[in-house]
Formats: sequence, structure tokens, C-alpha cells
Amino acid sequence: MADTNWEDMISLNSRAEVTDIALGPARDYLKQENGEVTWDRARIPLQRALDGDTAPLPTTEQREGYYGPNHFNFWASGLRDYCQLLEWLEPNHVARGTLLDIGCASGRLIRHVNADRLSGFSEVIGCDINRAHVDWVGRYLPPEIKIFQNTSVPTLPLPDASVDVITAFSVFTHIECFDTTWLMELRRVLRPGGIAWLTIHGERTWRDLAPTWPLYGSLTSHPDYAGYRSSVGLPKERLVFRWHAERSYSAHVFYAETYIRRVWGRILTVRDVFPALPFFQDVIVLQKS
Ligand SMILES: C[S@@+](CC[C@H](N)C(=O)[O-])C[C@H]1O[C@@H](n2cnc3c(N)ncnc32)[C@H](O)[C@@H]1O
Repeated sequence: MADTNWEDMISLNSRAEVTDIALGPARDYLKQENGEVTWDRARIPLQRALDGDTAPLPTTEQREGYYGPNHFNFWASGLRDYCQLLEWLEPNHVARGTLLDIGCASGRLIRHVNADRLSGFSEVIGCDINRAHVDWVGRYLPPEIKIFQNTSVPTLPLPDASVDVITAFSVFTHIECFDTTWLMELRRVLRPGGIAWLTIHGERTWRDLAPTWPLYGSLTSHPDYAGYRSSVGLPKERLVFRWHAERSYSAHVFYAETYIRRVWGRILTVRDVFPALPFFQDVIVLQKS
């Protein structure tokens, strides 16, 4: 790649300039609402969430295509994921001091965590390997949110035992190597009792793979896929489809639950594995004892 810096090998877009384009706040797109979220189950009522989050939304391009032209559903999906997290935290008595969202992109989740003063995270931190996302958050989301660019080398510039909840939505689905090193790093920064809420492509993702899912096109066109496609179950405990690009973030990774329990479970306690309804990834909840 002609315009690649060495930094781009361990992160992304080191020369990115943040563009001066953003959309209006979520309330401007309310008319696009079409049932993405079941509002009567949401722990945060729609009106409260709309009033609490008046920051601009990223354009479709600034959010990696998430939800195409439906800006409202993009916003609502972050609220849905945050509410699912709260639902787990409350009965499990996990402290709500600091939340870190790894691979936060343009802030789909953290904007809601920050807006939700009532549920009480006192500090919200996001990081991503993509400088363009980091710059976008730094320009358009409220200044209380701390944001930094991390590298794909598993290391976080945070003190030991300083974070209560770590989230990573659709990130370990793309981390092709050093998953155990990342787990050790998460263990280091978590406070005792703190949790990591990580989504993965699991056995269910493999078995039920549907053409409407975002990973379908790229996965099925990978040269190695043909050799595995007839396997009903996940053919390996950890299956990596990697594109040989000169950058991170160019792989799809699948994990069997046996691998999560045997390998990740040595580093942090596996508290739960459950389907992240309504979508195609599973949530792994890990806790530091
Ligand atoms: C599929 S997107 C998900 C974005 C966001 N978590 C969400 O759910 O809307 C994956 C994000 O993870 C970031 N990413 C990939 N590998 C990463 C790594 N090793 N560390 C931090 N971020 C990473 C990408 O730049 C991208 O923003």
C-alpha cells in the first residue's frame, strides 16, 4: 500500500484528518424508527434517552456502514446493547465506576453510557485502533468521554485494577492473533469483581450463517471458506479467516465454547455465554475474581 505508514501496521489511519461532517441528533431521525428496539422492555425509556443524548450521529460511512441509511436504528442499537448490559450488571452487583469500550468505533455504545446519568458509570472511556474513529468521537461526542487510539499490539495505557466493566462488541470477532495476550491485559486493568463483556462469532454463528448477515459476503468469498463450508459444526475450536492486507482488522474469527472455557477461562472466570439477541454473535461474560 503506497500511502501506508509504519503506524498503520499496528493501528489504522495514522494520517486521518477528521472530516467536518456529522448528522443531527437521534431525535431528528425518529421517523425512521421501525421496531429495532422493543421499547417496552428497554430499561431506559425512549424519551429519556433522546433528551439525554443530543450529540450528532456519525454518517453511515463514519460508522462502517452500520444500519445503512437508518440513522435512528444505528443509535437505538447502541441503547439496546447498553440496556442488555445493565440487565446483567444489576442482579450481579458489579460496580459502576469506570467503563472501557474497546473498539468503540464512532461511539455507538459509549454515547449512551455517558448520557445515562441515572445508571451511574462515573467514567466512560473508549478506544479504537482507527484514528478516524477516535478523532470523530473527540470532535463530536461530549468532553466527559475519554477517548484514545490503541494499537493492535495488546497493551492498554491504563493503570492496573482501574476498570469495572470492559465491553468489546464485534472486536474479538476480528482479532486474529494474541487473543490470550489481550485477555491477560484485560485481567490486568480490571478491578477485582470487574467484568469483560465480549462478543464473538460462535458455533451458532457458523451453523446458522445467513446471507443477510454483514459477515456473509466477505466470509464466503474467502479462499479458505470452500474447504470448510460443508462442515455443519465449527470445524476448529478457533477458526481464523485472514486476509493478507498490510494492516490489522482484516480477519473473521470464530470460537467454540470449549475453547473459551478451556483457554480464556484460565485467565478470567467464564460467568455466562449467551446469544446476543436478536443478532448473530454471542456474548461472553468474563469476571476477574
Ligand atoms: C465491527 S466494528 C464494531 C464497532 C463497535 N464496537 C460497535 O459495536 O459499533 C469493529 C471495531 O473494532 C476496531 N478494532 C479492530 N481491532 C481492534 C483492536 N485490536 N483494538 C481496538 N479496536 C479494534 C475497528 O477499528 C472497528 O472500529
